[in-house]
Amino acid sequence: MNYQWYPGHMTKAKRMMQENIKLIDLVIELVDARIPMSSRNPDIDELGRNKSRLLLLNKSDLADEAANKRWTAYFKARGLHVLEINAKSGQGLRAIQGIVREACREKIERDRKRGILNRPIRAIVVGIPNVGKSTFINSFAGKACTKTGNKPGVTKGKQWIRLNRELELLDTPGILWPKFESREVGRNLALIGSINDEILQMTELAGDLLGILLAGYRPMLAERYRTDIPEDASVTDVLAHICEARKCYRKGQEPDYEKASQLLIDDFRSGRLGRITLELPQDGKAQDASSPGETKGIEETEHE
Ligand code: G4P
Repeated sequence: MNYQWYPGHMTKAKRMMQENIKLIDLVIELVDARIPMSSRNPDIDELGRNKSRLLLLNKSDLADEAANKRWTAYFKARGLHVLEINAKSGQGLRAIQGIVREACREKIERDRKRGILNRPIRAIVVGIPNVGKSTFINSFAGKACTKTGNKPGVTKGKQWIRLNRELELLDTPGILWPKFESREVGRNLALIGSINDEILQMTELAGDLLGILLAGYRPMLAERYRTDIPEDASVTDVLAHICEARKCYRKGQEPDYEKASQLLIDDFRSGRLGRITLELPQDGKAQDASSPGETKGIEETEHE
């Protein structure tokens, strides 16, 4: 299946970001904690060169807790400021202001030396579609925020949000990039719902998801669909079990694999299957399969 999806509005949005980057002190990048590497747009590294950086592992409530810790350590070791957040419940958001100050310490110091007082930090908020950017901005800005309207040098219609005297945010549309590095990246983006479902084949995607779940999250599958999963069960066997457990049949009692596939993918996306991380960092650490949030068998992502 070809996962590539880069509609024209994304090219336009990228151009808008490039035009505004000179006004920016800090890049706040949201990624999905279930696929922290696959959900990073490589164009952002280019765009954010020489800027302070803050990486937010959003939807951390849907990802494996042990994996969240590993990813946090992984990105911190690479010089990024990192926070696990849940934009929906607001968890983790309170720590952001302090981290923003820390990330922009040099700029604040520079301003102070030049006698510039109270110039707010300007941050651009970026992330792929469906990563939770709107939810984040709404929760973080809360009711206190006011849209600041147009700024000098900013194209009309850009959305600046003034949080307080210290911080202004520039909201941007969710964008992907023209060519994914690998099939796995495309698949991961499809699984979390960042690629338009209309171009996807759900049974193939569900098959891929089941492969991952059988390798690392078998007990969750068994519990959700109330079934024993024999050691040698194939992806097709499990999909057939789901059809049976959820009564997905076409006329004539024929299993409706498509319906079961959609159901499985929805259960994964919403967290009803449990906390699942689809990729792990290659940080040379042994996996502990006996620990809670077992991540045995999940791909370790090759990066850099
Ligand atoms: P976007 O602007 O980046 O495209 O994403 P948006 O905020 O619209 O969020 C996409 C979906 O992800 C929404 O669910 C939202 O509620 C959910 N979401 C965002 N952040 C989190 C989080 O930290 N944890 C969890 N569990 N979910 C999060 P939806 O189903 O489209 O809407 P709704 O039913 O929640 O209203």
